[in-house]
Amino acid sequence: MANMQTIASARAHSNIAFIKYWGNRNQALRLPANSSLSMNLAALHSTTTVRWSDELAADSLAINGEAPSVAALRRVQAHLDRLRRRLGTDLRAQVDSRNNFPMGAGIASSASAFAALTLAAVAALEQRLSERELSALARLGSGSAARSIPGGFVEWHAAEAHPGSFAETIAPPGHWQLEDVIAIVSRQHKGVGSTAGHKNAGSSIFQPARVETAAARLKQVKQAISQRDFALLARVVEADSNLMHAVMMTSQPALFYWQPLTLAVMKAARGWREQDGLRVCYTLDAGPNVHCICVADEAPAVAERLRALSPAIDILRSGVGGGAVVLPPSGASLCKGESATCPLSPQITLPQHSAACTK
Ligand code: PMV
Repeated sequence: MANMQTIASARAHSNIAFIKYWGNRNQALRLPANSSLSMNLAALHSTTTVRWSDELAADSLAINGEAPSVAALRRVQAHLDRLRRRLGTDLRAQVDSRNNFPMGAGIASSASAFAALTLAAVAALEQRLSERELSALARLGSGSAARSIPGGFVEWHAAEAHPGSFAETIAPPGHWQLEDVIAIVSRQHKGVGSTAGHKNAGSSIFQPARVETAAARLKQVKQAISQRDFALLARVVEADSNLMHAVMMTSQPALFYWQPLTLAVMKAARGWREQDGLRVCYTLDAGPNVHCICVADEAPAVAERLRALSPAIDILRSGVGGGAVVLPPSGASLCKGESATCPLSPQITLPQHSAACTK
């Protein structure tokens, strides 16, 4: 009997949250305590190839060509188990995942990695799932991965049950030319990862207040995006980031992600806006690096000011990215430009899709 083997590759972008996800109502299903909202990052992505085969005795994983930690392998195996159940297969998988941003730059890769893994795994079995279901499935691997399936500006809905908690585009990438100028102030791997942090969020007395008021902030950010109102965006994005870090710092045990330079960048970004009129604001994930969100025209000035602030700061820049896409089989030409303009969509999950992107 012929061996059964099937393969596909997918690419997904990282995202930066304007309204944060911190804490779950259901840990195992990664059902978030509150809805969140993010922007995909065109320049930062994971590319993942999944090969399902009946010749494999066990799942395997390589990250940037290297063997992963035991914990990373277990997490991916658990996700493959969920995908096997949903897709009706008992094949094992060989997974190769590569990030185009430097590992250990303190930029989380779990969102882009689990989104790309989910899409590649589905596409390799030549199955078609809706964008919503792909998003909900990616969420089970890493919460914020739900937001890396759709493109542009994305809202992830909190819900009581698994299928209802998915993310969707609220505005396409071209709607507003924003940039994320990331100030890398530390390259150290974070001591406490977000999975552990989410579990602990409820131990802060501030978490209920943050969660109760998140919907109002999300509504304001949606309004700011729809009207391209930077002043409103800046006010709410900074407040939401501050609230998440207040919860982190008051959890038990307390989580302090900031370094002295983190605070210096936050204060500087606020000053550049309030005193100099630059359209820039800050937001932080579960780490010390500062994402300076600005209008694209002002990104060079923001980068220059960051460099002048300290020689210890490294900079990554990204515009708004598109959704996760299945890549043409190797040999076919890849999409030109960013996937934001690529017509391949997660709904088109045929691995043999050879219509190369024309834009
Ligand atoms: O998807 P996770 O479990 O890595 O959680 C991400 C949490 C934050 O990055 C801190 C906030 C967010 O909404 O992205």
